[in-house]
Amino acid sequence: MSIIEARQLSKSFMQAVKGPGLSGAVKHLFVPKHIEKVAVQPLNLTIEEGETVAYVGPNGAGKSTTIKMLTGILRPSSGTISVNGINPHKKRMENAQQIGAVFGQRTQLWWDIPITESFALLKDIYNIPESVFKHNLDMFVEMLGMNEFIHLSARKLSLGQRMRADLAASLLHNPPILYLDEPTIGLDISVKQKIREFIKQINLEQQTTVMLTTHDLGDIEDLCKRLIIIDHGAIIYDGSLQEVKANFARERIIFFQIASPIPALFQHFNTSADVQLDIQNELEFSLSFDRYEYTASEIVSQVMKYGEVVDFRMEDANIEQVIKAVYDGNLDLNHGSGQRRGVEQPCL
Ligand SMILES: Nc1ncnc2c1ncn2[C@@H]1O[C@H](COP(=O)(O)OP(=O)(O)OP(=O)(O)O)[C@@H](O)[C@H]1O
Ligand SMILES: [Mg+2]
Repeated sequence: MSIIEARQLSKSFMQAVKGPGLSGAVKHLFVPKHIEKVAVQPLNLTIEEGETVAYVGPNGAGKSTTIKMLTGILRPSSGTISVNGINPHKKRMENAQQIGAVFGQRTQLWWDIPITESFALLKDIYNIPESVFKHNLDMFVEMLGMNEFIHLSARKLSLGQRMRADLAASLLHNPPILYLDEPTIGLDISVKQKIREFIKQINLEQQTTVMLTTHDLGDIEDLCKRLIIIDHGAIIYDGSLQEVKANFARERIIFFQIASPIPALFQHFNTSADVQLDIQNELEFSLSFDRYEYTASEIVSQVMKYGEVVDFRMEDANIEQVIKAVYDGNLDLNHGSGQRRGVEQPCL
């Protein structure tokens, strides 16, 4: 059985509808009006032990709501969830033993006591054996560089320090599953890097299953082989990151520097329908093309027929652009070997 299985999982919220201003608020007091907001449409999700899965989508897509249902914080409106054989909402205590969760927007640490004491409390709450606790604490302090702030209370920590402390706290009891909801939000690149390295290491050494929501595509590229894209509460893509890149990041750009101006070269590519010329100045330009239509060496050798190339470098389309296109609905994912999924066509 897979470590995480959700079937026809959905969540709707009742949202208050108020008119504008004070009169709207007063009216609402006497005649409250609500509408049903479907945050997650019936979806199926299967995650295998040891996987690192990125769960991405635009703001309001339903990512946090899904994670909250999987952690047992929220009760689903419909459907079933099994996490290591446990229904997370019904058996919250048992479920807590097997999961770690970090919500980037809020801390699970006690605000006014030193981090060391928060950790000691977690040791008691989770019944962590002394040897395991000590081993993990030493390792996490070292890997996450927490020495300088571990004696401070959570309220005195910077965002990056707090996030590292939260991450360590979530893993002290060696949970086989780790949910991370925007763990790198607002962090500088060096702290991001530390956190990514740490997650990678934990996944590698302990086969911890990681499900991660993020808006940072660097997180996805660094950590996750599998990508699930959700929009308006429905999964629209579930496949490997590699597949998304291979199938949809078709555009390749080569930047050239030439020894002297070659008007004939510019003229040649200016009239080309499938290769796009972008001129920076008379000695620098770039050519964009579909990498399934042309090889890089074909393009370079065409350029070299016209004159001396001093330097060139190649860039593939950025995964960020690809995912944006998926969000915007500009890509037909059916052409990929990953699957584009509609609401009426449940995944897996
Ligand atoms: N407690 C709640 N009550 C009412 N509506 C809610 C509640 N929680 C979430 N929603 C609504 O459900 C939808 C999905 O919200 P959710 O927080 O899951 O989005 P998200 O994908 O995590 O977005 P973000 O990237 O901004 O974090 C939103 O329209 C939100 O307004
Ligand atoms: Mg969210």
